[in-house]
Amino acid sequence: MPTVSASILAADFAALGAAAQAAAAAGADLLHIDVMDGRFVPNITVGPDVVRCLKRATSLPLEVHLMIVEPWHHLDAFRAAGASRLIVHVEACPHLHRVVSAIRNAGAGAGVALNPHTPPSALDYILGELDLALVMSVNPGFGGQDFIPSALDKLSRLRRAIDALPAGSRRPLLEVDGGVVLGNAAGAARAGADILVAGTALFCAPDMGAAVAALKSAPEGSVRR
Ligand code: DX5
Ligand code: ZN
Repeated sequence: MPTVSASILAADFAALGAAAQAAAAAGADLLHIDVMDGRFVPNITVGPDVVRCLKRATSLPLEVHLMIVEPWHHLDAFRAAGASRLIVHVEACPHLHRVVSAIRNAGAGAGVALNPHTPPSALDYILGELDLALVMSVNPGFGGQDFIPSALDKLSRLRRAIDALPAGSRRPLLEVDGGVVLGNAAGAARAGADILVAGTALFCAPDMGAAVAALKSAPEGSVRR
């Protein structure tokens, strides 16, 4: 059964504390905070101060998805604000190995995200040092977009690569983010996703608890590729 990370990008930004509490009450396992800078992506969202307030508002672990240029300048600030996991984009980090080490030295879990056009081989020489690999299934920047089907193939390939890592190496979780809805959750989990990020599918649902339960149970009975 996949775990569910609730993306607050789809919540009411005037009531983020209540949104975080609603996500926890609905059974979400994690809170996903999308940080955008208007440069790496066209949109602008929140910074460490908002993460700090959310940390006070919920006991859910906070994963911070950094869609920003030069994310290494801000790792300590987001960690100090309460992020459990920091996710950077491979496309924003020419020295990714150094950035992953810096995340870990800051005391957070290290995640790396791939834009839709970035091949899974971009992680070939770092996969065994990550806590999380994130497959973007939309072009990052906005919630409520349609799932890009090629993400399923990328999930499958990364699943196989993770499962083939030598014993003793770190084994990253595999996460999918963007356009995840009930209709594609089973496919994503079958392709190997451990964590489903969902924004619109949760915060715009009439009953968030039912929506979380449906996402978690969608893949039941399915067999992994
Ligand atoms: C997109 C963000 C996603 C997004 C998911 O740039 O990284 O986390 O909020 O939202 P939905 O589920 O609405 O696609
Ligand atoms: Zn995200």
